[in-house]
Amino acid sequence: MVQKKKLYIETYGCQMNFSDSEIVASVLAETHETTNDVKEADLIFINTCSIRDNAEDRVWKRLIQLGYMKRKNKNLKVGILGCMAERLKEKLLEQQAAVDLVVGPDAYRNLPKLLNEVGSGQNAINVILSEEETYADISPVRYDSNGVSAYISIMRGCENFCSYCVVPYTRGKERSRDPQTIVNETNRLFEEGYREVTLLGQNVNSYRWQIDNSMVDFPKLLEMVAIVNPQLRVRFATSHPKDLSDDLLYTIAKYPNLCKSIHLPVQSGSDNMLLKMNRKYTRTWYLDRIAAIKRILPDASISTDTISGFCSETEADHQETLSMMEHVGYDFAYMFKYSERPDTAASKRFPDDIPEEVKARRLQEIIDLQSKLSLQQNKKDVGKIVEVLVEGVSKRSKEHFSGRNSQNKVVVFPKENYKIGDYATVYIYECTGGTLKGRTL
Ligand code: 5AD
Ligand code: SF4
Repeated sequence: MVQKKKLYIETYGCQMNFSDSEIVASVLAETHETTNDVKEADLIFINTCSIRDNAEDRVWKRLIQLGYMKRKNKNLKVGILGCMAERLKEKLLEQQAAVDLVVGPDAYRNLPKLLNEVGSGQNAINVILSEEETYADISPVRYDSNGVSAYISIMRGCENFCSYCVVPYTRGKERSRDPQTIVNETNRLFEEGYREVTLLGQNVNSYRWQIDNSMVDFPKLLEMVAIVNPQLRVRFATSHPKDLSDDLLYTIAKYPNLCKSIHLPVQSGSDNMLLKMNRKYTRTWYLDRIAAIKRILPDASISTDTISGFCSETEADHQETLSMMEHVGYDFAYMFKYSERPDTAASKRFPDDIPEEVKARRLQEIIDLQSKLSLQQNKKDVGKIVEVLVEGVSKRSKEHFSGRNSQNKVVVFPKENYKIGDYATVYIYECTGGTLKGRTL
């Protein structure tokens, strides 16, 4: 038997990218096995993100280091995958001698052929976007898994065209994956011992699949996955507020294993900004969706994404974001400064005119407020009994396990007789802004 080569994959960016890296490992499984030791690799893939300038900067810096490694090991090959590959195409080969291979997110099936070209001493590139590719038939290799939680990609691409965002250009048209293949993958994961799946897509609420005369939409798909087994938790990311229907919320309410946690990126609390961002909803609309969540899923946690210092953002606009955060009482948020991305609508139409120090100050105000809100929200959980899926040993203490409750909050508690993959019943007696501390019952 020919010995397999060693593949090291480094992934940046979103959960979608982590899921794609598992597809890549599967596509190459016949010839390559993954390693988590970069020093023994024959092939290094960097799966990249373009969402903000600093995400790309990290990759450029990493490529300089990989250039040194290649000088020491003449057989080492380096490939750039993902969004930066799609955005920069040949430029990556031209500007960085360390790069042998450039492959966009819809071209991973082509990797064996491209690697043959690289093997014969050429550079290789495929950045063709597809209108159909969903990798539906590929069983991802879960090479970096805790054996408990797994990602399942249910759709690809995005056609929302938020004016600041590069994703519609790097990941192409929206397409959904055959629901039966999603259910089959879920079944397989459960049989292998997994107890949580996260259904992934850039905009999961616009999932749709036509079978004969009936339509599987996202609530229906969630239901199909929920009934695979009540012991399997189901999460999803990410939702766009414009498509968050009451029907979806009622479906989540109906099944205890559909996790009570909604991530609903707001981006800004100001109508002026939302219009310029092309978010397709207003502050009032967003607040109506929040009211629906609180009415239909009173136990749900709510999290969000924000962008500070978008084009022409005034102090009053910024205050509206802060007041939105106060009003909703988010449990958690990913908070960013606006980073202009080449070729997006915003880069063509609006000057990036908020000075860096103003962006930074506004972001800091948002972070400070969110820290206060997270602590406030977590304090409400003190005194409650929660069900925790045990994911691993706590980073801070070998005697403690760490897991999450349905609301996606991290819970740390003494190990007792539980093991990884079990559900533990935990009484919460204390918290910080980031963690709930408990004892088992
Ligand atoms: N600048 C800053 N943040 C951005 N995001 C998307 N594009 C940009 C950008 N150009 C943020 C949004 C999105 C999250 C994934 O990244 O908040 O929801
Ligand atoms: Fe980054 Fe967006 Fe691409 Fe994910 S889809 S890797 S967040 S640019």
